[in-house]
Amino acid sequence: MEILRTVREMQERAEQVRLAGKKIAVVPTMGALHEGHMSLLSLARANSDFVILTIFVNPTQFGPQEDFEQYPRDFKRDEHLAQDADADVLFYPDVEEIYPPPFLTYVVTGEVAEVFEGEIRPTHFSGVTTIVAKLFHLTKPHVAVFGQKDAQQLFIIRKMVQDLNFDIELLAGPIIREGDGLAKSSRNAYLGETERKNAPALYQSLKAAADLIKKGERDLQVVRDAITAILTAGSPAQIDYVAFVDPSNFKNVDKLEGKEVLVLLAVRFGSTRLIDNMIVPLE
Ligand code: PAJ
Repeated sequence: MEILRTVREMQERAEQVRLAGKKIAVVPTMGALHEGHMSLLSLARANSDFVILTIFVNPTQFGPQEDFEQYPRDFKRDEHLAQDADADVLFYPDVEEIYPPPFLTYVVTGEVAEVFEGEIRPTHFSGVTTIVAKLFHLTKPHVAVFGQKDAQQLFIIRKMVQDLNFDIELLAGPIIREGDGLAKSSRNAYLGETERKNAPALYQSLKAAADLIKKGERDLQVVRDAITAILTAGSPAQIDYVAFVDPSNFKNVDKLEGKEVLVLLAVRFGSTRLIDNMIVPLE
């Protein structure tokens, strides 16, 4: 596995690989790799000839009060995992390489970046779309792989690819979970012991919602109340939002009808904020 650290090396390598007629897949991450990331690497491997893993804790997607400094970083461990996953290149630039000052140009998405995660984190998605656009220019992929775990991010990146005509196929990997249902996340490391015990409530509430809907419940308020009851039972979880959206446009639905609904959750346990989601069929 090659480790590349500069823009120039990365672009030159990607160009060579393209000229050799190989299909490139990129998996963008912020490191602190877990099985969620590993599953995306397998998907990348299965759908390409050359896999590029990027690790970059992107400062522009963190708000001023957020955890940019504390975000877990362990390059040696990540390097071994990337090697085990058979990545061809690990791209690991530093901040000055990616954002040489003055850095002035951003990619912004409209209203969909201002709701849910974007309401609570107003500059987050412009940071994400900007870094992902840059990583696409740096790694020149045919295929890019993202996780369903960050459903709104995935939607926004899809929109960017479509709106700005990136010639890239996006693949989405399913949410990988711990044995007790908690979605794997680098931020789970912040959870205290009791918070960790309570955190599977997110998945339990999503499952309960899916079960109710499967049994025919179509009253949104009933489903919402069932979710809230599970999230708040016996734990001091603070709910940021429980939302029901149409996955085709990411807008709130006011009726459970059509093909499927995407249920979104954001919940705080102490100072740790967790998100989770589930696509529930309606037919
Ligand atoms: P990061 O949080 O490191 O996640 C990298 C990729 O892994 C994202 O596509 C995310 O959706 C996916 N992922 C995270 N947890 C997962 C899980 N439990 N199961 C499946 N996939 C999972 O998302 C980012 O980094 C950044 O915003 C990034 C896109 C790299 C831009 O900086």
